[in-house]
Amino acid sequence: MSELQLRIADMSAEARDVVRLELVDVNGQDLPAFDPGAHVALKLPNGAVRQYSLLNDWRDRGRYVLGVGRVRGGRGGSESVHTELRPGMVLRCAVPVNHFALRPDATRYLFIAGGIGITPILSMIRWCSAMEKPWQLVYAARSRSRLAFYEDLVPYGERVHLHCDDEAGKALPVAQLMADAPRDADVYCCGPAPLMEAVRDSASPVPVASRHFEWFSAPASDSLSSTDGFWIDLRRSGQSLQVPPELSILEVLEKHGHEVPFSCREGVCGTCETGVCEGEVDHRDYVYSEAQREGLRSMLICVSRALSPRLVLDL
Ligand code: FES
Repeated sequence: MSELQLRIADMSAEARDVVRLELVDVNGQDLPAFDPGAHVALKLPNGAVRQYSLLNDWRDRGRYVLGVGRVRGGRGGSESVHTELRPGMVLRCAVPVNHFALRPDATRYLFIAGGIGITPILSMIRWCSAMEKPWQLVYAARSRSRLAFYEDLVPYGERVHLHCDDEAGKALPVAQLMADAPRDADVYCCGPAPLMEAVRDSASPVPVASRHFEWFSAPASDSLSSTDGFWIDLRRSGQSLQVPPELSILEVLEKHGHEVPFSCREGVCGTCETGVCEGEVDHRDYVYSEAQREGLRSMLICVSRALSPRLVLDL
């Protein structure tokens, strides 16, 4: 994966516990293009690699703009951003990838964002506005002080519906929202896992295939373990390894000294994607859509497992 050297050109507080970062090429060159919904992986000062959605206009080649929410008691990535990054610092960054791409020919778009989940949605609504597509955004936060990028949303007027839990006295009524959604809408949702699970599971005229999600972490309700073990054959090294029920493929490879790139270890970032030469995969990630999984010859080895007794991996 090619790597970029990016300088922090600007850094500012955006909302409570949310910081806005503007990154530019160290030599002032144009940055690789990205599509709405794309993210970049940043190497942080504490050694962690974390994925952050790009929220600026996709036509803006001079900078990448990110928003990072502080997760207290998290795995340390957001804490490093909030406490260790300073304007002028140079960070290593992978080129943008997109696991949350906008379907450009949808009839209409309904965006549902919660908290810092507004970041990929911002680049999407910029695209919809430029293309004169019909769209609506419902954006929920616990309080007004936590509504990030509010100033960016104001110009869109009535297309944007804001919901603050404390003012409404209740959480966003997702079931009602989805029940009322137009059948021909494509729904794009990003936010806390309970919000996305509710959008995914609610009865709605919108078909499940038209509901799209960007998971920042795996849903708490999902188990990532498997009841059965299986074998993996490594095509390039000729090694065969057993994957017991309590370990992931990634963990088995690490135990045997293989260095495989990873970041989230929860099936949400796509970093550990590995080619599959033979065998049937039990996809358990939150990156590939059902449509993408059809005939797919790759898998995310931090969470996905095997439906066949053996998988041959391109390793
Ligand atoms: Fe993130 Fe596997 S490490 S999907």
